[in-house]
Amino acid sequence: MPTALVILAAGQGTRMNSEMPKVLHRIAGAPLIAHAMRAGAAVAPERVVVVTGHGAEQVEEAVAAFDASAICVRQTEQLGTGHAVLQAAPALDGFAGDVIVLYGDTPFIRPETLDAMLAARRSHDIVVLGFEAAEPGGYGRLLMEDDRLVRIVEAKDATPEQLAISFCNSGLLAADAATLTGLLKKVENDNAAGEYYLTDIPALAAAAGLSATAIRAAERETLGIDTRAALARAEALFQAARRAEMLEAGVALTAPETVFFAYDTEIGRDAEVEPNVVFGPGVTVESGARIRAFSHLEGAHVGAGATVGPYARLRPGAELGNGARVGNFVEVKEARIGEGAKVNHLSYIGDATLGEGSNIGAGTITCNYDGVMKHETQIGARAFIGSNTMLVAPVSVGEEAMTASGSVITEDVPAGALALARGTQVNKPGLATKLMARLRAIKAGKKG
Ligand code: UD1
Repeated sequence: MPTALVILAAGQGTRMNSEMPKVLHRIAGAPLIAHAMRAGAAVAPERVVVVTGHGAEQVEEAVAAFDASAICVRQTEQLGTGHAVLQAAPALDGFAGDVIVLYGDTPFIRPETLDAMLAARRSHDIVVLGFEAAEPGGYGRLLMEDDRLVRIVEAKDATPEQLAISFCNSGLLAADAATLTGLLKKVENDNAAGEYYLTDIPALAAAAGLSATAIRAAERETLGIDTRAALARAEALFQAARRAEMLEAGVALTAPETVFFAYDTEIGRDAEVEPNVVFGPGVTVESGARIRAFSHLEGAHVGAGATVGPYARLRPGAELGNGARVGNFVEVKEARIGEGAKVNHLSYIGDATLGEGSNIGAGTITCNYDGVMKHETQIGARAFIGSNTMLVAPVSVGEEAMTASGSVITEDVPAGALALARGTQVNKPGLATKLMARLRAIKAGKKG
């Protein structure tokens, strides 16, 4: 049975107290909407429809960045969750199958849970995802009779007896597309909030002779983000889960609580990550690599057995070959560091290719930017770049060539050549002693 997703993301999220639409706030480097889309992707949906409203243009950009084939529909006025889902109906035209409604601000839904909802659909027309709430507060209450969901009562409309129910609505719902659209058209807004509630669907289904049920998930899975405090808690939950998964997968973490992963960080078995390392999006680390303390990596690939840091920064496009070494206070951007090459101290390597086994001396800088354009530096295999060399790009240094320390290299260096590009040293015998004596005499004279 084909599946479609309808993801609600039109709300403003007033309680975030932010200019940015709520679903663009990030967990582990990815916007909430991307987490929701990733969760939904587990059921291999045939169609993904995202309902946007507040900050629609920005949200649509984030949606397209995650899945260019997702369809965005706009809900210009936020008249309620039922109204929001109905806006997706035209985009579902021609689709026959099950629809799962997800919230863009609910990032932790597991694939197993969506599978369980679809499985429950075999015996019920409407399936709602519920959870036992520690603090039911403003959640919709699920009124059950055995496994039958009779109706959902919003907290605002509930009686004190109904408010005592702790089995609550997560907001997720699964139903056949045509059935859902048909029922949504019957939803009215005669309730305490004056909104078109999606939660009226189970009762409308019962009235139409259809059946509804609710299945259970853990509360931490259905967690929705409403405030910055909730966002921070969700980040902590994500990180705790990811650290545990990494350890389970054979990654050595000496102080796991100090390492921060992005949603897509991949680390191979027997790689080691020292304390206080931050991974931005797009990082892969191969087996046996060592990421030393206080390093920051983003959009980078670290080859097997390579070493990074301590205190290194790998920016997008950094590609470290197997066994390469990038040491303290080194920044690498858009550069391929060949197998076994070393950039051990205080360097900036940007828009460059370093051949295998090359050695880059301390303080070396690829001067890649002329103020307007970026230029490339090429270093051949086994070349030796002396300390404090300025490589003014575009420039190349051939295989097994050398540059003298302190050189400013503005012309290509042929393979095997030594390039000297600095002032020639002149020694004046005894002059230092004489000069110091004169200076001391001047100072003594001034005091007198
Ligand atoms: C909703 C449910 C409630 C459930 C709770 C779980 C309804 C009527 N109530 O309440 O039973 O316990 O979620 O968190 O469905 N949205 C739109 N357009 C709208 C309204 C909302 O896109 O017109 C989106 C919001 O951006 C949000 C989601 O739908 O992502 C939920 O909306 P929200 O207003 O937060 O619903 P709750 O009042 O929390």
